[in-house]
Amino acid sequence: MVSITYNSRHAYLLVGIAINFYSNICLCFCFCLNIGMNELLFATVDFPLLDKAHIVDTIMDTPRKYWWWDSYRTTNMLPLMTRSGKIGHDGSDNGGKDEFEWVDYTSKEIRDWFDDIVFPWMGQRARIMALLTEPNFSNAEHIDCDENQVGTMQHKFRYVLQGQTDTLYWITENGQVNAPAIDQPFLMDGGWPHGMHNSSNGFKLTLAVGAPWIGNHSYDNINVLQSRKDYVLPSNWRQYLKK
Ligand SMILES: [Fe+2]
Repeated sequence: MVSITYNSRHAYLLVGIAINFYSNICLCFCFCLNIGMNELLFATVDFPLLDKAHIVDTIMDTPRKYWWWDSYRTTNMLPLMTRSGKIGHDGSDNGGKDEFEWVDYTSKEIRDWFDDIVFPWMGQRARIMALLTEPNFSNAEHIDCDENQVGTMQHKFRYVLQGQTDTLYWITENGQVNAPAIDQPFLMDGGWPHGMHNSSNGFKLTLAVGAPWIGNHSYDNINVLQSRKDYVLPSNWRQYLKK
């Protein structure tokens, strides 16, 4: 009996040590992943692709009265998913606790792609905008978060439906650095000052998801092509914040 009690205590002790060891390993692993994801500047996302030309048509068929002008980023915006499905500029408001819902005019193809693939991957719904930039036009250089969030995980999901991804550029202490030219969706760090010059003769159209989603601590289907640690923030980065 004494032997059994001793063995039981011994077993509990070993289990306790094992759990503690495992917890520490997990904490260390998560910490490492957090650091890694904080450093993400640009990464491709491996998803089944949309029929871009068709999606462009469905978006551009939406009456112009539903679009609004974002003067901070100097781009046209069309809300596709908003809190309570609000339309127009009201759809840009991410405050409150209303559920994110599809705006009535959003096509079934877009809804299905996000509902079946993107949102399960993100772990939540978030606001979706279509961003339209006219030919030979530049979006204003800006930062997509508050000052105290710069350097934290501020992932934005983007999918360029028409135009080139390398028209996006980062502002660094050593000059501009273009994003890579890719075809698939990508993640970008909204906390790094950036701009976009659409140098083509056609408009650029992009699907954009951001707040309140800020990113995941790990992904199983991304390929990081640019990292924050390889560049230096410009010393004047605060000038790109929204005033
Ligand atoms: Fe941005």
